Amino acid sequence: MKILMISPEIAPYSKTGGLGDAVAAMAKYMAAHGNEVRVFTPAYGSVRRDETWHRYEEPVRVELGYGMHSDCAVWETNFCGATVSFVEYNYFFGGNEIYSSRPDDAHRFAFFGKAAIDYCEQINWIPDIVHCHDWTTGLVPALLNTRDNWRRIARAGIIFTIHNLQHQGYAPKSVLEYLGLPWGLFTADNYESLGGVCMMKGALYHATKITTVSPTYSYEIQSSEQGFGLDHVLRHRAGDLTGIINGIDYGEWSPRTDKLIPANFVPENFTGKDICKAELQRESRLAVRRDIPVFGVVSRLAEQKGLDLFAAALPNLLDRAEMQVVLLGSGNPALESTFRRLAARYPAKLAVSIGYNNRLAHMIEAGSDFFVMPSRFEPCGLNQMYSMTYGTPPIVRTTGGLVDTVTAWDPATPGAGTGISFHDADVGAMTWAIERALKLYFDYSDDYYKVRMNGMNRDFSWDRSVEEYERVYREAMEARKGMFPPPPPPEIKSVKKKSGAPAAAEKPSAKAAAKPQKSAKGAATKKSATR
Ligand code: ADP
Ligand code: GLC
Repeated sequence: MKILMISPEIAPYSKTGGLGDAVAAMAKYMAAHGNEVRVFTPAYGSVRRDETWHRYEEPVRVELGYGMHSDCAVWETNFCGATVSFVEYNYFFGGNEIYSSRPDDAHRFAFFGKAAIDYCEQINWIPDIVHCHDWTTGLVPALLNTRDNWRRIARAGIIFTIHNLQHQGYAPKSVLEYLGLPWGLFTADNYESLGGVCMMKGALYHATKITTVSPTYSYEIQSSEQGFGLDHVLRHRAGDLTGIINGIDYGEWSPRTDKLIPANFVPENFTGKDICKAELQRESRLAVRRDIPVFGVVSRLAEQKGLDLFAAALPNLLDRAEMQVVLLGSGNPALESTFRRLAARYPAKLAVSIGYNNRLAHMIEAGSDFFVMPSRFEPCGLNQMYSMTYGTPPIVRTTGGLVDTVTAWDPATPGAGTGISFHDADVGAMTWAIERALKLYFDYSDDYYKVRMNGMNRDFSWDRSVEEYERVYREAMEARKGMFPPPPPPEIKSVKKKSGAPAAAEKPSAKAAAKPQKSAKGAATKKSATR
């Protein structure tokens, strides 16, 4: 299959969290399965260019609303068998940030989505599947169903993947006019929400198939508790919604080969892991003690991750338990300073690094004895899979992908389990979970060994998930078959007009065939004037 992925992040070029990792690995493994994959993504100022990049020789013309257009450049490179196409348009993407607090952030990404469509058409690369990732790509399905529905790319099956339903992309309604989308989309059962445009909501109505990143999350988001106001839409589309768990990219995250840790290791021999632990303790200025468990955290410091519960539980635990904590994260300023204050109060037990540091993230996965991930909700979560792979049992809340990937240890069933699970999102339950981990470490050492082994021997490879995506792709292509009339014939420029009968050159051109779009645009302008 020819697959176009549209994503605001792809690691290692751009990443704020798991989305960048997931898209990169998905593209790589899809390509390894014999698919032709192109990932369209912005060339932010922070993306490191190199000599493998080639610029598409012509300017890429992006058709916008009001008959306007903008030219941009597209650079391409090969990434593990997939092509990555970077759109360069400095007015929107010249800065270093991926998501910005600019008032025109939605317009930035609206432009990006339209550029993806127009670029594929311009280079005559017509995919079977257009796979959109998260809210930034939310207007693409509507473009393919309305304004651009006469183009060949519109025959592709449209997949929309929810990586995180909390971030939906609220935009001023002018974003529809900006792309020349019809005003008919501005209704409550489409893109309208609270007087503005909700990019994710409309995408859920327009996509041929919807996926999210774990089976449990696919059910949770259909409930009012976890639906973030879109549960009714997801219930409406339930028949087209599938939860497919992310895998991990063992090329990047494997204790056998990881180049970012001081020693490699395998399940049969933990000598390397002991070295990683000692080095992590040394780097974190904690006592180098093999007999004290290290609890690691690598996370965005956002409400989603529940680390405020961990912060609240820590003083009581650190006052009485033999334990060390190494935390790496950034995000919510209040939570950052809470952790800084705690680190100042417990310098011998708690090391806190505020910021983003990929090497330290690998060190923490490898050198810790437990990994703490008390998420309030977690669509999939990659860190718990990384930690199991590195022999570091995770401590997780029973939510979303954490349910689907971690099996709870229970002293009643010795030798089973891959981590510690707890249910309630409160400080009492968080404390209970850490105490349970301490018990496993100090009192059940045989079981601790087995739990680590069980985790390391789990298979989190992408292969199975790629097959599931391919199945959804095929269903989407089937569902989309025959949806739209055949594209108009190409313009024949060489035929000269004779007097009398119209010449072949006057056959409707591609642009003329876009009539519905034009009238929609006209209607849009009229309507907006009266709004
Ligand atoms: P989410 O995408 O919700 O943040 P995931 O568990 O899916 O959660 O993915 C998080 C990814 O981001 C992991 O690869 C993790 O190592 C990385 N990460 C998060 N915070 C940091 C940080 N401060 N420094 C380095 N890597 C980080
Ligand atoms: C989002 C989710 C996370 C998931 C990641 C990749 O960032 O918060 O749970 O693992 O996307 O799909």
